[in-house]
Amino acid sequence: MQDILEELERRRGRARLGGGEKRIATQHAKGKLTARERIDLLLDEGSFEEFDMFVEHRATEFGMAEQKIPGDGVVTGWGAIGGRQVYVFSKDFTVFGGSLSGAHAQKIVKIQRQAMKVGAPVIGIYDAGGARIQEGVESLAGYADIFLENVMASGVVPQISVIMGPCAGGDVYSPAMTDFIFMVKDTSYMYVTGPEVVRAVTHEEVTHEELGGARVHAGRSGVADGAFDNDLEALSQVRRLVDFLPLSNREKPPIRQSYDDPGREEPSLDTLVPADADKPYDIKELISKVVDEADFFEVSPDWAKNIVTGFARMDGQPVGVVANQPLALAGVLDIDASRKAARFVRFCDAFGFPIVTFVDVPGFMPGTRQEYGGLITHGAKLLFAYAEATVPKVTLITRKAYGGAYDVMSSKHLRGDVNYAWPTAEIAVMGAKGAVEIIFREDAKDPEKLKAREAEYKARFANPFVAASLGYLDDVIMPRETRKRLVRALKGLRGKELSNPWKKHDNIPL
Ligand code: HXC
Repeated sequence: MQDILEELERRRGRARLGGGEKRIATQHAKGKLTARERIDLLLDEGSFEEFDMFVEHRATEFGMAEQKIPGDGVVTGWGAIGGRQVYVFSKDFTVFGGSLSGAHAQKIVKIQRQAMKVGAPVIGIYDAGGARIQEGVESLAGYADIFLENVMASGVVPQISVIMGPCAGGDVYSPAMTDFIFMVKDTSYMYVTGPEVVRAVTHEEVTHEELGGARVHAGRSGVADGAFDNDLEALSQVRRLVDFLPLSNREKPPIRQSYDDPGREEPSLDTLVPADADKPYDIKELISKVVDEADFFEVSPDWAKNIVTGFARMDGQPVGVVANQPLALAGVLDIDASRKAARFVRFCDAFGFPIVTFVDVPGFMPGTRQEYGGLITHGAKLLFAYAEATVPKVTLITRKAYGGAYDVMSSKHLRGDVNYAWPTAEIAVMGAKGAVEIIFREDAKDPEKLKAREAEYKARFANPFVAASLGYLDDVIMPRETRKRLVRALKGLRGKELSNPWKKHDNIPL
């Protein structure tokens, strides 16, 4: 009997070793942790329940029959983050470079399906070389099975991907269909085809880092939502993110006890907006001063900086925050900002986050680069996302709300529930200077007259009271009272119920 029990331990020890001591040492030498070390850091201590530790691949060609490693390159199971259940899979680069076999894929699909049944997030940790080259179509089939479950799970349970090594082929498309992608600087890469293929096809010389490093995807392409210095930091940020999220769409985001006075006033906000309308200020100062304990989890901080997106709590209620950032491109809406915010708004709506929108926007970005790039389609994404969202929507206009961008940014007309403005708000078709140059063209040669016209236009429209008189704003509020007013608005909306007409699905301009 003792022999049988020992055999189990022996087999487990073999599986835990993955590709062996030598490959583990190589992994460490590259500044990377192993698949199991990553799971240990991600989950609450001792909470991991492993599945399928003894699964082996079924390939026989190219000498594969003699190379079987239990677990087959991915560690899967479930555990807890902050006491709440999550499912996890972690690719083991020490086993065939973490590449995906049919058996490896089945392990992941099992996790994905069970997470959907139970109603718990799926976190995938990637460090993998794509399809297992020795397996051919079985590997491709395995990827497709995973992709299908990614799509089925989208909007049902949160899906998070953490990229911690080189990822190519199928190991970038599955993350691309999840809700959030985090990368690690200098050790992780994402590309559809690597530098060698790029060289062969386009004769372009490019390094791994230049082609698909964390800085590229978190700052330039927008594929990743965050770039972190090392494995440890990335995993601790995943824990922080999960803390805001509901486990599935069957529940609401978790309300926590707040120790920050909901009625706290911030006198400094009265002077946040500069007297000169062309001067920028940092919208993140407003965000950190009104949310609980200045705790703001920013999503995609390095991409499309002209719009800020992220999670915070207001009197314990988790909210999604979207804010134009006057510090970057004057807060204009361009292609990237529209895409970034639209995706975030849709995530919030799918998982029941009330959306708090701070508006200071001069309009959409003009120019051929934007128009040729499809600004109309991409800008429409944000408009569409706000319009279809049925979660509570609370909006505050701090300064400019010009043109179509006024409509787009969670206006009353798109079913904004509570719409406030500061006294410094300017709601108009465009800025006063541009407006008078168009409607008083006959005065163009007389700068004095034009100036007077500008002053007249400003006095008439550069304030929130026209919109307030029409009921498009619910109130004009004192900046120092913003936290109190937003908290009350959100509390008042907790019972909100709203649904859109039945449809198979909408046709958002992708
Ligand atoms: C089988 C693989 C492998 C793969 C790596 N290995 N990738 N085995 N299938 N796809 C093995 C290596 O043979 C090696 O084994 C070990 O993993 C470590 O790999 P190295 O090359 O030594 O590591 P490194 O120098 O860090 O380079 C990592 C890498 C590179 C950039 C990922 O290995 C690479 O380019 N691999 C191929 C990537 C690829 O083209 N994949 C197919 C994509 S197509 P030993 O025994 O020496 O330790 C695809 C189709 C699906 O995924 C598309 C669906 C849409």
